[in-house]
Order: sequence, then structure tokens, then C-alpha cells
Amino acid sequence: MSSSTSSPSAQPGRPRILTGDTPTGRLHVGHWVGSIENRVRLQDSYECYFLIANVHAFTTRADRPDDIRRDVLEIVKDWLAAGIDPERSTLVLQSEVPAIAELTWFFAMQLPFNRVMRNPTLKHEIETKGLGDKYSFGFPLYAVGQCADILAFRPALVPVGEDQVAHLEMCREVARRFNHVYCDVDPALDDEAHVTAGGLFPIPAPLVGRVGRLVGTDGVHKMSKSLNNAIFLSDSAKEIKKKVGALYTGRQSMTDPGDITSSLFQYVRAFIKDPARVQALEERYSRGDNIGDGHIKAEVTAAIDELLGPMRARRAEYDRPGGDDLVLDILREHAARANAVAEETLYLAKQKMKMDIGRRTLGL
Ligand code: TRP
Repeated sequence: MSSSTSSPSAQPGRPRILTGDTPTGRLHVGHWVGSIENRVRLQDSYECYFLIANVHAFTTRADRPDDIRRDVLEIVKDWLAAGIDPERSTLVLQSEVPAIAELTWFFAMQLPFNRVMRNPTLKHEIETKGLGDKYSFGFPLYAVGQCADILAFRPALVPVGEDQVAHLEMCREVARRFNHVYCDVDPALDDEAHVTAGGLFPIPAPLVGRVGRLVGTDGVHKMSKSLNNAIFLSDSAKEIKKKVGALYTGRQSMTDPGDITSSLFQYVRAFIKDPARVQALEERYSRGDNIGDGHIKAEVTAAIDELLGPMRARRAEYDRPGGDDLVLDILREHAARANAVAEETLYLAKQKMKMDIGRRTLGL
């Protein structure tokens, strides 16, 4: 392996992280509290791989390649703006890592078909996206593909939002099964002991952010781009003010005891940093102690703007002419680093499966 392809963050003993997003549009503050914040923080102590699942985007939008390509650039810009540091972490564009596709095949054989179809996250998506019985064969396959995204990098930890935990559970099953069938690991062994017992794959643990599910500005559903209830990481101060200002609380006057389970107060807890201030606001609001919704909204708006301000500034660098090329250069350079790891995993997996016959070099 040449030094240009080795990850700058590859230090012996540093455990790995892999996580990712499907490029479906801009990221919002729900993504931040659910997972991105953890990713930014963990860059110091882990060797990090962040994957853009652009192949998965085709499972429901196969007829819109231009949109998917645009969304890939958008999501990478959001990541860089949020503080993901390309000097320390590796950005993995899924379509540039063929080992992932090959591992998907192998893992598909480790999972009963009905097990995949019972995956609650898939079922939920079929419902909410109204896919009925018209979804492509590739749609349920993406859940198997996600196992390959993860295990190709043999990570210890996968920082995700709550909605991804079911996928992680399936990934853990695949890893246990592979280690049992091809590496002779006792199936009754504790997850932590798999690698020392000769298993190829560590059993990766999910790490859910401090707010697993952030409510949207409609006050009802989970924050989501498609539901039109999101505050985006790239929103201007004015847009934040407008969206927070429009939150409905149903409260009539400053002396009404207020409901601190409302979406407004979920935002108080999610975005106001000082715990003493959060507590004071909760106490005064729930007592109806002369504190209006307008005041709370102003504090929430200021807190969100304080979070997004520096992101806006970093993003401006990539929104300039030539910004797309900067992003594409990062993706190309990082693909080499990602392939170095994923090709090694594929080689080891094929060895365990008695398929280590041919040689290959992908120009790594
Ligand atoms: N399914 C994830 C989402 O839509 C994206 C994803 C793809 C992912 N591969 C992954 C997340 C691997 C974690 C690990 O958000």
C-alpha cells in the first residue's frame, strides 16, 4: 500500500467507526442531534469512515440520476460544513467501492429472505413512502447492502439515528453468522469476544445520538425533508426565525401553565446548551410564570443560529464556483483510502469462504 492511499487517521489501536447517509437532499438539525454531532466529536478518538449511500438512492429513484448526483454533492457539502474534517476522516462514496457490492452477495446468502422482509425499518419505509408492492427487487436488498457497507470496514461502532437500529441488528446477525460458519466461532460466544476467537468481523454496536428522534416543526412527525417540517443545516438566520416562530403551542397567555413536552420545548432541550438555563425555562414555563412563547422562541432561534452560523460560513467555501470540483476531488482521493480497507476485508472474507484463488489489484 503506498502512503498516498493509507488513511492519515490509521493509527494502530484506534478503533474504527463507519456510518453514512443516503443522499436524498439537504441535512437538517434532526440529523445533527441524531448522529452528525457524534460523528464530528468522535473524529478525534476513532478512525472514521463516512459513507454516502448513492447506490441505495437508486432503490427508490432509479429514474433520477441527475438528482442523485446533485444530492451527493449537497450532502458532502453539509458534512464538511458541519465539521467533518477530510484531513482526519475518510469519505466513502459507495459506488466507488466495488468490494461492498461483492460482500452484499455473500451476506445475502447468510440471511433468510423472510428475515430481511421482516426488518421493521424496511416495512416502515414501504408504508411511509407508499411503495405498496411495487418496489424494486433492489429495495429490500439495500438492507443487506447496508450490512456490507458497514462490515467492509470492520468497525467497532456505528453512530446512527434511532431509525437505523433495526438495520444494525441485522448487520450484527450477519457478522455473527459469518464468523460462525466460516471462522468457526462458537455461536454462543459474547459479541465482544468474536475477533479474539478468530472471527473476521467485529460485532459492531450502534451509537444513537443524544436525541434519537427529533420532532419536526409540524409538532407531530419526526423531522424529515419530505414532510416539509425541517430546519436545514444550511438555513439562513431568517429562515430559522420564521420556522421556529411558526411553532404552534396552543397556549393563550404568559400566565398559562405551559406544556414542556411540546416541540418548542424539545428544541429548548436539544439546542440550548446551558442545562441550568434549560431547567429555569422549563420551571417558569410550566408554572406559567409570566414567560411568553415569543421569548422562548427567541432563545431557541438564537441557540440554533449559534450552532448553524459557523456551518454556514464553512459551507460558503464550497458554494462558490469551483466548489463542486473541490468536493469531487475529495471523493476521488478518499475512494482510494476506502478501497484499501474494503479490498482487504473482501480478500479476507474470500479466504475464509475458500475463494481466495485469483489475484486482483484495483490500482490501489
Ligand atoms: N440507510 C441509512 C439512511 O438512510 C444510510 C446508510 C447506508 C448507512 N449505509 C449505511 C448508515 C451504513 C449507517 C451505516 O440513513
